[in-house]
Amino acid sequence: MKILICGKGGCGKSTITTLLAKEYARQGKRVLVADCDESNFGLHQQLGLGLPQDFTDYVGGKQKVMQLSAGGPMNMDPLFTKPMTIDQIPEQYISRKDNILLMAPGKIKNANEGCACAFSIVMCMFLPMLQMGENDVLLMDMEAGIEHFGRGTANNGDKVLMVIDPSLESVKLAEKVSEFCQGISHPVYYVLNKVTERNEEALVSKIAAPEKIICRLPLKEELTDAGLSGDPLEGSYDEIRKLIDAIA
Ligand SMILES: Nc1ncnc2c1ncn2[C@@H]1O[C@H](COP(=O)(O)OP(=O)(O)OP(=O)(O)O)[C@@H](O)[C@H]1O
Ligand SMILES: [Mg+2]
Repeated sequence: MKILICGKGGCGKSTITTLLAKEYARQGKRVLVADCDESNFGLHQQLGLGLPQDFTDYVGGKQKVMQLSAGGPMNMDPLFTKPMTIDQIPEQYISRKDNILLMAPGKIKNANEGCACAFSIVMCMFLPMLQMGENDVLLMDMEAGIEHFGRGTANNGDKVLMVIDPSLESVKLAEKVSEFCQGISHPVYYVLNKVTERNEEALVSKIAAPEKIICRLPLKEELTDAGLSGDPLEGSYDEIRKLIDAIA
């Protein structure tokens, strides 16, 4: 199963990804987390893992991919020619603890280093080749917004989780993502995050397709605190267990 986690900036994509990864792992799944956000450096901390080497280096690095794609990514030779299992991803591109594995296509590290297209090109070519075992789950923590739909990375998920925080901007983005998902025939589900007793119903009333809501995770003090301290997320939540049941 390949699950894409998307939403507007700061809505809680990485938090939901981490909580899902840990809960799936507790349930005995092997979880590959793909950190597809080239800008932020928080996910690996939330997971309690080190940041692995950029996976883009596996195919020669960012500059090489940009050169190869100079005539347009659609015209370039495939970077991956054979199917690949999780076990075949070389060690240096994976950080792991128990049965959670983290990979990252690439991070922006220097000023003026150029656009991040190479990282999405690598993932767009890698993901269709990634062979998942029956016990494997792939969680893709996307960059904020909808560029991954434009670039086609989102085509590679079986299911899309749209994280919605209590803001009109989040709700509007969810409608846009639902349209995109219809266009690529992918089911989309909504995860309400950071809701409070006071704002939950107001948020739900603004959502055009409330039947898509499969999780409501409240604003939790310990998650806010971990967001500030940088400590790994260790809690286990009923809402996330129910989310996993709903996804299944
Ligand atoms: N349910 C929650 N309760 C309290 N705080 C939360 C909750 N979910 C997320 N947060 C906090 O909100 C902040 C943003 O969360 P997170 O980094 O997961 O969002 P994101 O969507 O991945 O952000 P970005 O778009 O920057 O990647 C963090 O400080 C996190 O700790
Ligand atoms: Mg994030």
